Amino acid sequence: MLETNDKRQASFDRLIQLRSEAAKGGGEDKIVAQHKKGKMSARERIHFLLDPGSFNELDAFVTHDCQDFGMPEKQVLGDGVITGYGTIDGRLVYLFSQDFTVFGGSLSAAFAKKICKVMDMALRNGAPFIGLNDSGGARIQEGVASLGGYADIFYRNVQASGVIPQLSVILGPCAGGAVYSPAMTDFTLMIDNTSHMFITGPEVIKTVTGEEVTFEELGGSQTHSAQSGVCDLRQPSEAEGLLALKKMLSFIPSNNLEEAPFVPLDAQALTKVEQAQTSLRTLLPDNPNQPYNMKDVLGIILDPDSFFEMKEEYAPNMIVGFGRLGGRSVGIVANNPNHLAGVLDIDASVKGARFVRFCDAFNIPLLTFVDVPGFLPGTDQEKGGIIRHGAKLLYAFSEATVPRLTVITRKAYGGAYDVMNSKHIGADLNLAWPQAEIAVMGPEGACNIIFRSEIHASAHPEATRKELVANYSQKFATPYEAAKRAYIDAVIFPEETRRWLIDGLKASQNKRVEAPKRKHGNIPL
Ligand code: HXC
Repeated sequence: MLETNDKRQASFDRLIQLRSEAAKGGGEDKIVAQHKKGKMSARERIHFLLDPGSFNELDAFVTHDCQDFGMPEKQVLGDGVITGYGTIDGRLVYLFSQDFTVFGGSLSAAFAKKICKVMDMALRNGAPFIGLNDSGGARIQEGVASLGGYADIFYRNVQASGVIPQLSVILGPCAGGAVYSPAMTDFTLMIDNTSHMFITGPEVIKTVTGEEVTFEELGGSQTHSAQSGVCDLRQPSEAEGLLALKKMLSFIPSNNLEEAPFVPLDAQALTKVEQAQTSLRTLLPDNPNQPYNMKDVLGIILDPDSFFEMKEEYAPNMIVGFGRLGGRSVGIVANNPNHLAGVLDIDASVKGARFVRFCDAFNIPLLTFVDVPGFLPGTDQEKGGIIRHGAKLLYAFSEATVPRLTVITRKAYGGAYDVMNSKHIGADLNLAWPQAEIAVMGPEGACNIIFRSEIHASAHPEATRKELVANYSQKFATPYEAAKRAYIDAVIFPEETRRWLIDGLKASQNKRVEAPKRKHGNIPL
């Protein structure tokens, strides 16, 4: 009996020792170095992100099986990645956290297998998948085994796309082909100064092109937020980044068969938001050519403080983000007259299209706010493929089957009228404010074209032009020509918008659309 107890105790002691060894990662010194860079350790990140005590670690004792370059002597339990599942605000999530303290967080075949296991589990169980990335890329000692491991992950990213939300946080280097896993997830968050994403690093660029560039310029959070559009959200610190990730998740359902969590307003907040609606009456400037910030409109109409913007610095003429209306999660796509008059250009079209497709895949109703003077004219845009890229937004809206509601606050001109969730491409409720102008183009441009000879022949060309523009504006720069044709369901006072949208969402919540049977459509990529 005594002997059995000893054996049991010894087995317990062994587990304690192995767990403590696995928890050390690459060792105390390397964790200190990590802290010095303003970074948490891989384990600290998990505990910061998940509900306390909810983490279940899997495969903590996995090691690599590389036989080359002295690697057999360098075994670390867990092999540089922590994987498992836990909860965020009580909701199940699966995740991995790459440990830079172990072989620079580089990816071995065993490391990749651990990630693939949790990806498969997330997909099978319909739960979001989160990747915390901090890695030197392919484990150089393993060669092609590591490349194969990446490809196994990429393949799973694609299989899971549109079924479970996939979210990436970049918390250190993310280099080479490794960037393609985050790129195929739904959203990528970066941290200022510490996260970097690039295909080829500064040294290679210098060798190939002679150009000198820093890590930060090449692939830092600002570059990817404002220029490349790779980053959806950047934050100044890891803690803020992980908190932002939690907030983002609160707008998103756990999988494509579920609804996002409902967050009702208390009575006091409800009264306040209802009272604020009258301020919409005077929000837009009298002069239709003066800018205003569409985010001010959203701030009044949506549930208080619920707007959560994505890709804020990229193509700011187009706003995309999550919000809540009457407690229900919604996706917002809106022109912003504050930047380039809210025009549609290549970047705005691509930004809007991808967001529309995310919301459509995950049952998040779409609210579109329109104030758009048209597509941006110019050789840069034409040569850059505005035809191809603008078509993405048109395609994305047209194929979306979630409830789709549109409010035209002011201008809806030209092709952009069609593209911005018009009735014709399947929107459920199309509203316009009384000062809306829905036409082929603005009155000035229109009159200069159709009345050119009349203006030219006039003894007082400027006066004639003004008169013609005034006549044209009265007839066409209104919502009533569109309303007469039932392209607009209702012309409403601005302060009625919130109520119309809440009722519109309720009315379309059981919407059913039979899409034609096909393998998949062919979005103009
Ligand atoms: C093995 C690696 C490694 C890697 C870093 N380490 N990257 N070990 N494979 N890819 C190790 C280092 O040897 C070092 O070990 C420890 O991690 C920390 O690295 P440092 O260089 O000291 O850290 P730092 O100065 O912060 O620089 C980080 C870094 C740099 C910028 C990431 O390490 C680096 O450039 N690494 C190589 C990046 C790279 O070229 N990866 C391959 C990309 S191609 P010790 O024992 O000294 O602490 C790729 C293809 C994927 O990934 C394709 C998928 C399709």
